[in-house]
Amino acid sequence: MVKQTPPMGWNSWNTFGENINEQLIFETADRMVETGLRDAGYKYLVIDDCWSLKERGEDGRIVPDPDKFPNGMKAVADYVHSKGLKFGMYSCAGNLTCAGYPGSFEHEFVDAETFAEWGVDFLKYDYCYHSPIIPGKYLYRRMGLALENCGRDILFSACSWGADETHEWIKETSASMWRSTGDINDSWESVKRLAAQQPALHPYHGKGCFNDMDMLIVGMYGKGNVGLAGCTDTQYKTHFTMWALLGSPLMIGCDVRNISDAALDILLNPDVIAVNQDIASREPVLLNSIWKHDDTYVYYRQLAGGDIALGFFNMTDSKCMFRQNLDELGLPHSTGRTLEMEELWTHQTMKVTNSTILLPVDAYDCALFRAKVVRE
Ligand code: GLA
Repeated sequence: MVKQTPPMGWNSWNTFGENINEQLIFETADRMVETGLRDAGYKYLVIDDCWSLKERGEDGRIVPDPDKFPNGMKAVADYVHSKGLKFGMYSCAGNLTCAGYPGSFEHEFVDAETFAEWGVDFLKYDYCYHSPIIPGKYLYRRMGLALENCGRDILFSACSWGADETHEWIKETSASMWRSTGDINDSWESVKRLAAQQPALHPYHGKGCFNDMDMLIVGMYGKGNVGLAGCTDTQYKTHFTMWALLGSPLMIGCDVRNISDAALDILLNPDVIAVNQDIASREPVLLNSIWKHDDTYVYYRQLAGGDIALGFFNMTDSKCMFRQNLDELGLPHSTGRTLEMEELWTHQTMKVTNSTILLPVDAYDCALFRAKVVRE
């Protein structure tokens, strides 16, 4: 499968960990529709680790845990599909998954066929307990080939956490997205850490194989499997905006059955989603403003059709003043052009004068503009 824009959806891991079952998935599917999340683009509903028994069956196939999924996975897939959603599952390139369930090593083709029979549309493929001898890229090529030949269009979501120089070889496989970092947890420190790891990786992000900055923690407020200190709504907004602008897949990780209004407003912002889903999927560019301090970022992305997305991220704990010259964007004064910008959270508009943007941004906050090139 060739995916043109970053995948969007929901994944069970961040909140539920091993506590997953058919009922949870059915209720989540219902809520994805009722909340408008499906119609906003969040199409993939993905069950992460811990869905099977600890041993394969006599026929060599993985067996869904009958306590968690008493009607089997096909029934789950059918329900998810009946809601207009796509169904995702999880396996691992090692002997075992990260939580100790059977992995797909040496079973790649039979597992891909099994997933296809069940009606799976997405496979997240982890990297725990992998062979110390066989290079990771061979393992991802194997499953990539198995999926491409299983008779069903299954999106391949590689999850090797950036290990073993994933960025150098992942595009050779049929992966549509690749995890570039270790696991996120529900804390501001984690968001900052993941953000700081991104600048070196932008050249490896692009159409068809998106840099996955890990699942969203928006709306978790410290609850659930990777719940730690939790974040404020402002911090969740900044986290979501950065993931969206940088072109990461947007996989919701909170309990959407009990989602707060504030979290829903963040996840449903159509203008921010439109930036993430821009059809050109160009590389994000970190602007090297001389005013840059640690944990502050100015990013832009050239969008399809001439517009520019421009994000200012203040991840520090005090207010800061951004100063950004348009020369770096290719718009020096000599062009006779400037930017007319609309902020995508407040909808305030401004026209840049003197080729310079001066912008105060509160602690933990951000601003994301969609800008048009206009005459000065
Ligand atoms: C790894 C992955 C996580 C999650 C867990 C499941 O840690 O990076 O995203 O899938 O495994 O065990």
